[in-house]
Amino acid sequence: MDWGMRNRLAQLVQRDGHCLFLPVDHGYFQGPTHKLEEPRKTIEPLLPYADALFITRGVLRSSVDADKSKPVILRVSGGASVIGKDLSNEGLAASMEEAIRLNVSAVGLSVFVGSEYERESLLNLAKLVDEGERYGIPVMAVTAVGKELEKREARYLALCCRIAAELGARIVKTYWCENFDRVVRGCPVPVVMAGGPQVDSELEVLEFVYDGMQRGAIGVNLGRNVWQNDHPVAMIKALRAIIHENATPREAQELFNSLKGQPVAAG
Ligand code: 5RP
Repeated sequence: MDWGMRNRLAQLVQRDGHCLFLPVDHGYFQGPTHKLEEPRKTIEPLLPYADALFITRGVLRSSVDADKSKPVILRVSGGASVIGKDLSNEGLAASMEEAIRLNVSAVGLSVFVGSEYERESLLNLAKLVDEGERYGIPVMAVTAVGKELEKREARYLALCCRIAAELGARIVKTYWCENFDRVVRGCPVPVVMAGGPQVDSELEVLEFVYDGMQRGAIGVNLGRNVWQNDHPVAMIKALRAIIHENATPREAQELFNSLKGQPVAAG
């Protein structure tokens, strides 16, 4: 692996081999998502605790200061919306030249395995990998399920992750599921977990993140369960404790409880 590729991956995955990516890209198909209506307000207090941001170029330029930034994973797929015909009908929405101009550490796009546009999204990934490898920019593939959240089970996600890795993704982002080790085992590149829609309690999030880490994930790319929480800074710190300090879910919950009343400093 060339120096540039290794250097970019090292910006994302920390020295302990783990990572906490903060995705704030949801607006690219959902519009002003709940609690992400004003991206700068959501992002700034959380930025110190994220290892990288997963973000579109529009929100990066408008809502993140270039001199206070974190490593960036640029969301480069798009072209569908939540009210359109088919969420899987995505194309490449930003060029590699733009990724280089923005000095990003990686680019990310969604693949929709089993969907109407499976072929297009997989070939988009292959094309992006060709370009990324040329310039030393890693590609993170997102195994997207669109509105079909029930697809989040081990057999299907293992299939998606393996295909993404075979096509050259350097990191694969997928959902946590029961028997998550099956997903990780079949995927020869590092796997990070997304959270999906907000779940009922903090402990539920902390438990599935802990379980996924025990079963081989290297970290998370977890958005709504952080910034839709009433105490997002406490939540991201609790997640950091699991990911980077080997805390148990109960220890992380205690940390969350101790922090949730505290005033939040500006980022
Ligand atoms: C949506 C994405 C998000 O990056 C991903 O789903 C992670 O966010 P969340 O934890 O909110 O599911 O790909 O565009």
